[in-house]
Amino acid sequence: KKIVLAYSGGLDTSVILRWLQETYRCEVVTFTADIGQGEELEPARKKAEMMGVPASSIYIDDLREEFVRDFVFPMFRANTLYEGTYLLGTSIARPLIAKRQIEIAKEVGADAVAHGATGKGNDQVRFELGYYALKPDIKVIAPWRHWDLNSRTRLLDYAEQHQIPIAKDKRGEAPYSTDANLLHISYEGKALEDPWVEPDEDMFTRSVAPEKAPDTPTYVEVEFRHGDAVAVDGVALSPAQVLTKLNELGGQNGIGRLDLVENRFVGMKSRGVYETPGGTILLAAHRGIESITLDRGAMHLKDDVMPRYAELIYNGFWFSPERLAIQALIDNTQEQVNGTVRLKLFKGQASVVGRKSPNSLYRMDYVTFEADSVYNQKDAEGFIKLNALRLRLGAMAKGL
Ligand code: ARG
Ligand code: SIN
Repeated sequence: KKIVLAYSGGLDTSVILRWLQETYRCEVVTFTADIGQGEELEPARKKAEMMGVPASSIYIDDLREEFVRDFVFPMFRANTLYEGTYLLGTSIARPLIAKRQIEIAKEVGADAVAHGATGKGNDQVRFELGYYALKPDIKVIAPWRHWDLNSRTRLLDYAEQHQIPIAKDKRGEAPYSTDANLLHISYEGKALEDPWVEPDEDMFTRSVAPEKAPDTPTYVEVEFRHGDAVAVDGVALSPAQVLTKLNELGGQNGIGRLDLVENRFVGMKSRGVYETPGGTILLAAHRGIESITLDRGAMHLKDDVMPRYAELIYNGFWFSPERLAIQALIDNTQEQVNGTVRLKLFKGQASVVGRKSPNSLYRMDYVTFEADSVYNQKDAEGFIKLNALRLRLGAMAKGL
């Protein structure tokens, strides 16, 4: 018997590591993904070693490019937002972690996987739907649903008893519940549990406050190919590099903060605060390039399915047939989504101020308010009359 644990090196998963070793008395393999959370990962290795995990059973993988190329970018092709605002920064990373964890389980011949998500949240669902989709006979261990350490206080006590170091925040308090990767960082818990309470400014780590951002705007150009960003300010970049660059520019200009109460899949509402600087710019830029390259019918169709697609990702159904079907539709619309968008970044806003494309559908000769020689305004008369017909018949029926 062997267990592969999704191990961040943080308090929760360190306690889980010890607890798995004690409870199951079997080998625990740790897997730590670098998805751009911006933390040193060597401490995770040290901690795992300290808890008796042999070096050959410690996996630390750099998944940053795969994360952005195969998860973030496909999602951004759909301009995906959950409940109108959330860019799904945590949701989109879970399937990748699940996928790699299952690969490792197969490599090392493990029959079980474990994760540190609680029994109240979305993450447990996302991890486990991923596990089961990729290895239907896998055993899942979710300690938060089993053990008697059912509160943070009891978890801290256990950590102390077992000499597991507890990281404190700047003020020496237990930190927020956070989740971070190249796309975003989330904050939940503590003072945020009261949805009336505004977050402390010193909670934020990836952006300056919009009111403290520079008084002069920053301009940036993002180039797209088949719907994916491939260059920033004329410099060709890999997917992870694009997001890193946009995070830097967005963070400096106070872009991408979001404070919301969202509906969790398990049925409760939860309050979360997010910083998604680069993603917020990327969404605006992608909509900008689509505005001149996408046909109206194709655009409105993908806009129609987007909320459904967002819900699938939020609820953890990345590996479902319906997500793949919608993805195929979305990807099919992106062939001509090529060109460059210029954005103005200023005090929390990312505004598109210019767009150009070799595949542009925008025709100044048709749309101009000046004289034109291509469009016959008389054609509009019959167009409107036939569209009005049922409105007129309805009105007549009401005796108007
Ligand atoms: N509420 C967000 C979501 O469901 C963020 C979850 C953060 N997860 C965490 N383990 N801290 O996607
Ligand atoms: C958790 O419950 O582990 C974090 C929050 C969530 O998954 O929604």
